Amino acid sequence: MRILELGCGDLKDANNMQGKVIAIDKKIVCKPAHNVTAIEADYFDIQLEGDFDLIYSNYSLCFNTKVKIEDRLPKILAHLKPGGIFLVRDFHTEDKVVKKRTNIHAPWFFDLVKKYVGPITVSDEKIFEAEHSHEHHIFSLKAKKSK
Ligand SMILES: C[S@@+](CC[C@H](N)C(=O)[O-])C[C@H]1O[C@@H](n2cnc3c(N)ncnc32)[C@H](O)[C@@H]1O
Repeated sequence: MRILELGCGDLKDANNMQGKVIAIDKKIVCKPAHNVTAIEADYFDIQLEGDFDLIYSNYSLCFNTKVKIEDRLPKILAHLKPGGIFLVRDFHTEDKVVKKRTNIHAPWFFDLVKKYVGPITVSDEKIFEAEHSHEHHIFSLKAKKSK
């Protein structure tokens, strides 16, 4: 199982995944687990090698411009194996907390994923972030690459 994480932050997710993980972030500050290769880079600039069973991004894509996502994300998604999964968790349109972001809970983003991956399922929920005492409205998107 090969996994690519876009915007891994402190590696809390990447370091708990099974399989061979490539985790990319502009700033890597934590130590990767034995099965994780952490790469300090802009994930839209990096030349990826090989294909992945899972491409995963947790609260990261929204910190990039719509132009960049539209231009570069398809190149990353081309590295998803047939039957592979693209999984995104990010902020819902209605999220009131994170204001400086691109809204990817939007038809243009859903259409891009449908075009380059396949059918999508989207769900949303509200989560309470105890550390900052506020509630986020978030969404999860899952798409399976057509064979
Ligand atoms: C809110 S943090 C989320 C981190 C982690 N995924 C988590 O759930 O804790 C967003 C992360 O995405 C990274 N990021 C955003 N755009 C990026 C890009 N184009 N290339 C690399 N890292 C990026 C930031 O550096 C930051 O660490």
